[in-house]
Amino acid sequence: MNNSTLAFIGGGNMACALINGLIEDGTAPQDILVAEPDEQRREQLAVQFGIRTVDDNTLAAREADILILAVKPQVLKEVATAIAPALAQGTPLCLSIAAGIRHASLQRWLGKDVPLVRVMPNTPAMLGAGASGLYAPESISEAQRSTAEHIMRATGIAIWLNDEAQMDVLTAVSGSGPAYFFLFMEAMENSARKLGLTEKTAHLLVLQTALGAARMALESTTSLADLRKSVTSPGGTTEKAIGAFQEQGLEQLVDKALTAARDRSVEMSASLGEEE
Ligand SMILES: NC(=O)c1ccc[n+]([C@@H]2O[C@H](COP(=O)([O-])OP(=O)(O)OC[C@H]3O[C@@H](n4cnc5c(N)ncnc54)[C@H](OP(=O)(O)O)[C@@H]3O)[C@@H](O)[C@H]2O)c1
Repeated sequence: MNNSTLAFIGGGNMACALINGLIEDGTAPQDILVAEPDEQRREQLAVQFGIRTVDDNTLAAREADILILAVKPQVLKEVATAIAPALAQGTPLCLSIAAGIRHASLQRWLGKDVPLVRVMPNTPAMLGAGASGLYAPESISEAQRSTAEHIMRATGIAIWLNDEAQMDVLTAVSGSGPAYFFLFMEAMENSARKLGLTEKTAHLLVLQTALGAARMALESTTSLADLRKSVTSPGGTTEKAIGAFQEQGLEQLVDKALTAARDRSVEMSASLGEEE
């Protein structure tokens, strides 16, 4: 990727997370170009990262060796069809991070010969703790896959999906997932306060426990079920709490929630991509 121009269309939150990760990972700031309509935002990006910025998407598309489409899904069709003629002359590798825009829809808007990888990141990418899913058709070469993966690894882990339908499941798991954990932590925090802890103590204990549990699971080869059993002594406090969760159908509820999120992702993709 050395000396390749990496251009972003849209310089918002997710572009910023990726730029930050890429620069920390060794990409030269002068190799990064951002096309962004907002003048203040362009200035901010140039000062913060020392990268180049422009207000013209076509110019960025022409200069790019790798082009990352980082605008909101609602404006992607308009942006993609406008830069399509410029791409036809150069065909850089394109990555789309737009949630819910199917590969086939975007391919139609960009032009059929443009090499395109679809990516779904999540918000912890902003801290380098993201989880991204990648999907590309067979026509994308190993070298292009490796470039796309390298870019996404700058903000966390990157996992290839071999069937695009799995993107909807990934959206339900890691895309929306941070909010589920926030909700669970919020509920634990509220209960801890009700049981007598101060707000600050409840907050810190809940967050550190969530972090500790995630780290234990990541760093262990033991299954989640066995990790849970290892901290659940017969007749003890944990057993009482787990019993209460299971009596109320926690597992079934989680399954219902993820299925609803997956179904909504399918529905949204169909409506965002349906216009020709
Ligand atoms: N944030 C996440 O957690 C997350 C997770 C998964 C996927 N994504 C995807 O990442 C993409 C970007 O999301 P985000 O959260 O970074 O959004 P964002 O902060 O709103 O960034 C989008 C940027 O694009 C700019 N823009 C708008 N119209 C443009 C145009 N015609 N040409 C060039 N730039 C234009 C916006 O400028 P203005 O503000 O001036 O309009 C804004 O700076 C979305 O497609 C989203 O689905 C985000």
